[in-house]
Amino acid sequence: MSATTEEVDPFEAFDKAMGMDDCRDPYPEFAALRARGGVVEAPPMGDAAAGMAGEAKTFIAVSYEAVSEILRDGKTFSSGAYRESMGVVMGPNILVMDEPEHGRYRRLIQQAFGKKALAVWEEELVHPVIHRLVDAFADRGTADLVPELTFPFPVYVIAGMLGLPDEDLPWFHRKAVDLISVAIDPMRGIRGSQQLGEYLTPIIEERRKNPGNDLISVLATGELDGQALDNDHVLGFLRLLLPAGAETTARSSASLIFGLLSDRAQWEALADDRGLMIQAIEEGLRWEVPLTGIGRLCVEDTEVEGTKIPAGSHIQVLIGSANRDEKRWDDADRFDLHRPPRQHMSFAFGPHRCLGMHLARMETKVCLDALLDRLPNLRLDPAAEDVHISGRGFRSPRSLPVLFG
Ligand code: HEM
Repeated sequence: MSATTEEVDPFEAFDKAMGMDDCRDPYPEFAALRARGGVVEAPPMGDAAAGMAGEAKTFIAVSYEAVSEILRDGKTFSSGAYRESMGVVMGPNILVMDEPEHGRYRRLIQQAFGKKALAVWEEELVHPVIHRLVDAFADRGTADLVPELTFPFPVYVIAGMLGLPDEDLPWFHRKAVDLISVAIDPMRGIRGSQQLGEYLTPIIEERRKNPGNDLISVLATGELDGQALDNDHVLGFLRLLLPAGAETTARSSASLIFGLLSDRAQWEALADDRGLMIQAIEEGLRWEVPLTGIGRLCVEDTEVEGTKIPAGSHIQVLIGSANRDEKRWDDADRFDLHRPPRQHMSFAFGPHRCLGMHLARMETKVCLDALLDRLPNLRLDPAAEDVHISGRGFRSPRSLPVLFG
């Protein structure tokens, strides 16, 4: 299970496909779409893509109002949009389900992500993980915070919550990225899905017999209407959790650190007053969402913000655009931790609102506290060239070279 036995680097390939090489700033394009309306019809696709999508139209939801209206209404806007992509590689899971099935499965695991359960994970898992990572470079006076901290941190956390051995983590992380690469490389996605199934099935069976406090045990012993959850459904959840929890949190915390360190006055304001922590985290999420868009399928004729949407249309729900809506935020392109927090769309909204949002916020807080407590005078390395956030679908800085002490 070595991370070096495979020929292609899935992280590189995925970042490239997400526009991290060539898309530094999609926000002017999002603003131009908002100037045309809350929901705009996408231009027809090329021949090959049109063949795949059949006659269906595609709309792009870009204003805060349109995005929240669509996400709130899971009946008209189905998550079945993912069945042919994520559904194929992950198996049955809550991301691709609609009500009432979605709510029944979500309730099974919701408690494990509630604030009470998280207080225990914070003490027993998240603190030790962050300090172990910081220990590795704290004496050096220099580090690249992406590979050394923000990238591995949420992977160790979610794998710890699943009760998986540390030595399997690099492999497990690569497989998670293989899964979400399904749209750019279907065979890679399908192979990753099978490999994860082979790896996890014996673990599920063992935990069913000897359950512990971990999430695999919660799922393996879970029951719906008196019936134990079958392996396919347990696997579906597990194949969802790592990409959902790692890719997003790693990117959002790196972008937040970049936002704070690129404007030292804001970093110092937070260092002087940790009471600003919650609003710094919310502002970071609003300003640079790690995942700019999600998908829905319109299942009945409807109208949103004056645009008629026929049944069968695909909807790109641009949460990254909603978060920069000038009608809701003044100077929305600016990162400003003094901004009073308002609901943003980074965790989506409605029935599929992110299950891991409290975990993500807690991890980000623990990470920032560790930086503030342990790395005095933390600053971007002035010798580093052109550190910046990039990406169209997923966004974050690729590296964060820093000095401290
Ligand atoms: C900053 C970090 C995060 C962001 C921005 C984020 C964002 C999102 C978004 C936008 C959705 C809705 C997807 C859709 O409906 O199409 C979602 C759902 C979900 N997220 Fe997160 N997420 C984050 C962290 C996490 C973490 C740490 C976990 C758990 C380990 C997690 C688990 C999930 C799950 C299971 C769902 C599916 C919920 C459902 O369909 O009911 N997320 N997340």
